Amino acid sequence: MDSSCAQQRPCAHKSASVLANDQLAERTWRLRLHGPEVAALAQPGQFFMVRIAGRTDPLLGRPFALYDTVLDGQGGLVGLEIVHLVVGKMTTLLSGLKPGDSVEIWGPLGMRFPAVPDHVARVTLVAGGIGQTPFLAYSRELLGGRGFAGKSAQKVVDKVELVYGARRESLLAGLDAFVQAGACVLPCTEDGSLGLKGRVTDGLDTLEKPEWIVACGPEPMLYAVARWARERGVPCQVSLETPMACGLGICFSCVVKVASSEQASGWDYQRVCIDGPTFDAANLIDLQK
Ligand SMILES: Cc1cc2nc3c(=O)[nH]c(=O)nc-3n(C[C@H](O)[C@H](O)[C@H](O)COP(=O)(O)OP(=O)(O)OC[C@H]3O[C@@H](n4cnc5c(N)ncnc54)[C@H](O)[C@@H]3O)c2cc1C
Ligand code: FES
Repeated sequence: MDSSCAQQRPCAHKSASVLANDQLAERTWRLRLHGPEVAALAQPGQFFMVRIAGRTDPLLGRPFALYDTVLDGQGGLVGLEIVHLVVGKMTTLLSGLKPGDSVEIWGPLGMRFPAVPDHVARVTLVAGGIGQTPFLAYSRELLGGRGFAGKSAQKVVDKVELVYGARRESLLAGLDAFVQAGACVLPCTEDGSLGLKGRVTDGLDTLEKPEWIVACGPEPMLYAVARWARERGVPCQVSLETPMACGLGICFSCVVKVASSEQASGWDYQRVCIDGPTFDAANLIDLQK
């Protein structure tokens, strides 16, 4: 473990040079970073804190999910990719980076996606907004297309389906990458410009009953998906995008209420950066209302 990381898991704090920075969709960019050591540690579901090298504004790093690892022509690990939506200061700066520029990156942070139970043959991923980002690496892993963190590629399930919602087609990013990874993609747009007209829960209604749902996206979407799953008795994991200051478990800016039999209240706080970012929806108090 690098001494700069306070988590008791392997992670590193490195300067990483930009290999490429490509616009994938409206306000959405894919940043390809050189960093074989950091990429070698990363597993689907984990995230990285990113800062612009040499700048103190913005002062705090920002969390971004592992989107994919980058391989060279011989299959050797070269680095990693993050995909981000431009919403504010940091993401605006990231979208302007050029090959050869540097960022500071620390991670991987947080827990990987939880293991899929042995009896599950089909995983249903549900993404809204920029919530598709943790799911490309995960799709590759589940379908045996790529091993992560030194593990060999081994198929975990027979089928991965991605229900991916956005307001309009121009905001859907990387659909071809998911298809190429082997996922069955169901786009849902609120204006009907691509795929099903409606929300991700409308998309879920069209599928065979899911066996295992993993969702990532804005809170109202997670709330709706968790309720949809609860009403049908489908296990549902949610990956949270809670704002974070340190990413390392120190500042407590990222806490959520999680069910706990050890507390008289029935719940306790957990840190999304250390204990998450993925939680069983049934244990998240704020998703039960
Ligand atoms: C574990 C994790 C993984 C993430 N992965 C990705 C990813 O792969 N791609 C991606 O685009 N984003 C991701 N996010 C969200 C991302 O961290 C924020 O969008 C980013 O910090 C915004 O930084 P900024 O400086 O551009 O915006 P700021 O200038 O800090 O904020 C601009 C506006 O966005 C709002 N905002 C900032 N952060 C969040 C947030 N986390 N949730 C909701 N509103 C927010 C602010 O309140 C403000 O209104 C992730 C968040 C977490 C916790
Ligand atoms: S972000 Fe600081 S404790 Fe989680």
